[in-house]
Amino acid sequence: MNDNNYIEIRNLNFSRDGRNIYNNLSMDIPKNKITAVMGPSGSGKTTLLRLIGKQLDPDSGTITINNTSLNQISRKELFLLRSKMGVLFQSASLFHDLNVAENVAFPLRVHTNLSDSMINDLVSMKLEAVGLRGAKDLVPSELSGGMARRVALARAIILDPSLLMYDEPFVGQDPIILGILKSLIQKINLIKQTTSLIVSHNIAEVLSIADMIYIISNGEIVAQGSADAIKNSKSDFVLQFINGYTDGPVAFNFPAEQDYTAELLGNTNA
Ligand SMILES: Nc1ncnc2c1ncn2[C@@H]1O[C@H](COP(=O)(O)OP(=O)(O)OP(=O)(O)O)[C@@H](O)[C@H]1O
Ligand SMILES: [Mg+2]
Repeated sequence: MNDNNYIEIRNLNFSRDGRNIYNNLSMDIPKNKITAVMGPSGSGKTTLLRLIGKQLDPDSGTITINNTSLNQISRKELFLLRSKMGVLFQSASLFHDLNVAENVAFPLRVHTNLSDSMINDLVSMKLEAVGLRGAKDLVPSELSGGMARRVALARAIILDPSLLMYDEPFVGQDPIILGILKSLIQKINLIKQTTSLIVSHNIAEVLSIADMIYIISNGEIVAQGSADAIKNSKSDFVLQFINGYTDGPVAFNFPAEQDYTAELLGNTNA
C-alpha cells in the first residue's frame, strides 16, 4: 500500500439484486486530506461508505485501510479498526431516548473503560468544539436539524478517529449552519490530522473544501482530480453534473424492466 494513502480500493465489484452498483472500481483516499466522492442520487455513495465500514462485503476486489485488508480481517481487528472510524450518517441517527451528552458519550462507553468523570470532560470538549456544550441535557426531539447534525458530529469525533466519513453533511442546512459545518470539517481535518471522506452531491460546498474529488456514475469513476481540475473539466458528464443540466449522459430514470409504452398498454410481453 502506498504510504500517502489511508484507503486503497482495487477492482471492486458490487451488485445488489442483480444490479451492478460498482464495476471494477479502483480509488485512493489520501491520508490526512479531504476527499469527496460525488455522484447522482442512487449512484452508490452511501453504499461505498458501508463497504469501507465492512457493513457490506464486495462481490470481488479489495479494500485496504491503513495497511489492513478488509478481506482477511478478524472480528477483533474489525472492532479495533471501526473504533478509529467516525461516521456522520445521512440522517443524524441520534438515539432518541438518550440526551445529547449520552449520545456523544456512547462510543466511549462501547470502546473504552474510562471513568464517568473522564467521559464527562471529553464530552464537554467535543460539544464545545461544535458549539453545543449548553445543549448537553436536551434530548434529540428538542434539537433543530442543524443542532442534531452537530451533535452527531461531536459523537463521530469523540474517539479522535483517524478516518472520518461524512454522508451528505450539507443537505437541508441553512447557509449559516452550512458555513459552520464546512469550517468544522476543515478544522477537524487540520488539527486532528484526520483523513476525511465526504460523499455528497452538494457541488459548491465540496468544490470549496475538498483536496481530491471523484465523480462516479454507473459504478465507475468518470472524473477525478483537484477542485480546479474538476471546475475546468470539459467532460460532458462533469459539465452536466456541476451545472445541473437535465440533458446529458446521466439518465434521470431508474432502469425499468418494461418499456414505458408497453407498460401503459398493459402489454406484458413487450
Ligand atoms: N438495502 C438495500 N437493498 C437493495 N438495494 C439497495 C439497498 N440500499 C441501496 N440500494 C440500492 O443501491 C443503489 C445505491 O444506493 P446508495 O444509497 O448507495 O446511493 P447514494 O448514491 O447514496 O444515493 P443518495 O444520493 O440518494 O443518498 C441504489 O440503486 C439503491 O436502490
Ligand atoms: Mg446516500
